[in-house]
Amino acid sequence: MPQRIAVIPGDGIGVEVTWAARQVLDAVTRKHGVPFTYDEYDWSCQRYAAAGEMMPADAIERLRPYDAILLGAVGWPGVPDHVSLWGLLIPIRRAFRQYVNLRPIRVFEGVRSPLRDAGPEVDFVVIRENVEGEYSEIGGRLNRGFPDEFAVQESVFTRPGVTRIARFAFELAATRRSHVTSATKSNGIVHTLPFWDEVVAEVAGEFPGVRTQSEHIDALAAKVVLDPGRFDVIVASNLFGDILSDLAAAVAGSIGIAPSANLDPTRTHPSMFEPVHGSAPDIAGQGIANPVGAVWSAALMLEHLGHPAAAADVMAAVEATLAAPETRTRDLGGTADTAAVVSSLVAHLG
Ligand code: NAD
Ligand code: IPM
Ligand code: MN
Repeated sequence: MPQRIAVIPGDGIGVEVTWAARQVLDAVTRKHGVPFTYDEYDWSCQRYAAAGEMMPADAIERLRPYDAILLGAVGWPGVPDHVSLWGLLIPIRRAFRQYVNLRPIRVFEGVRSPLRDAGPEVDFVVIRENVEGEYSEIGGRLNRGFPDEFAVQESVFTRPGVTRIARFAFELAATRRSHVTSATKSNGIVHTLPFWDEVVAEVAGEFPGVRTQSEHIDALAAKVVLDPGRFDVIVASNLFGDILSDLAAAVAGSIGIAPSANLDPTRTHPSMFEPVHGSAPDIAGQGIANPVGAVWSAALMLEHLGHPAAAADVMAAVEATLAAPETRTRDLGGTADTAAVVSSLVAHLG
């Protein structure tokens, strides 16, 4: 029985990199005989302009039966970002309890990190809490238009929410180099992050073989820049993890290569795979987007769906493609366009 994939290309370069990922997945199917069926959904800001909604009212019910969701990116000038993202991406993450956002970072052979000393030993994973924390609808805006106008935004940190993301991070670290760094800011934020620290410390007690370190997010950001090779697994709240993952991706060469897996580890609901980057209106339509973040996300999907050999094959093709100067995109200092990267990936997959 083929596994069923829902594809939401979205906006801007989301469409271009999703096309690229599909070409690679088709090559994987030809080589490994791994069968998938795909249904494409045009849910996007363009749809919003025409229909007044990012996705139909029954979108979650339509997505529920799939084995996985492949997403490009959403967001486009003219539609406020909180409308487009709270109209599609965030509801999907929440409805399907995709509470883990797994974002691996690697410096690939041949890819120039902006840091002189950041070499291939950089290999860590940001585990971002993905359904609560600073991303919340609780709050309000009052006195609109008056001099004393103000906005209040609440953060929500629950014991079950922090416990499960910490456990996921420690379990992952136990299969890697057994080191967890927890991002905090308990020196400035007086309720939520001290609570986060306490719960993470409790979970750490369940994993005596894993070393733990708690770092304030400001100092941690500097260390990710200055010494990225020291990290194994970083566990962070929703907002801290969001910021750290773009920062770390840039340190590793470009946000164009960074992948993400929005996981429901209980496998009750479909998980969703998407590059870390957005729709990049500044380069959309030119055919020059780096497709590696989307392709690596597809490899994470293959792994999640039980095809580790196919996933490893895709990553070998990515490594070979990035190692060759003529198949690096502009964000990596090369001149290749998206199609040239895809041709190389498909050729390496035979
Ligand atoms: P962005 O990631 O789209 O772009 C930031 C910069 O990185 C731009 O200069 C862009 O050209 C470059 N870049 C990004 N991906 C690239 C790639 N694959 N190859 C080469 N260069 C690449 O972030 P932004 O500008 O803050 O956001 C643009 C829109 O995307 C906004 O509407 C935002 O809300 C949305 N967004 C969506 C998602 C998502 O759907 N998951 C994620 C992030 C941002
Ligand atoms: C990401 C994006 C989203 C997030 C935005 C677009 C809402 O930046 O997936 O990293 O903050 O989660
Ligand atoms: Mn982000």
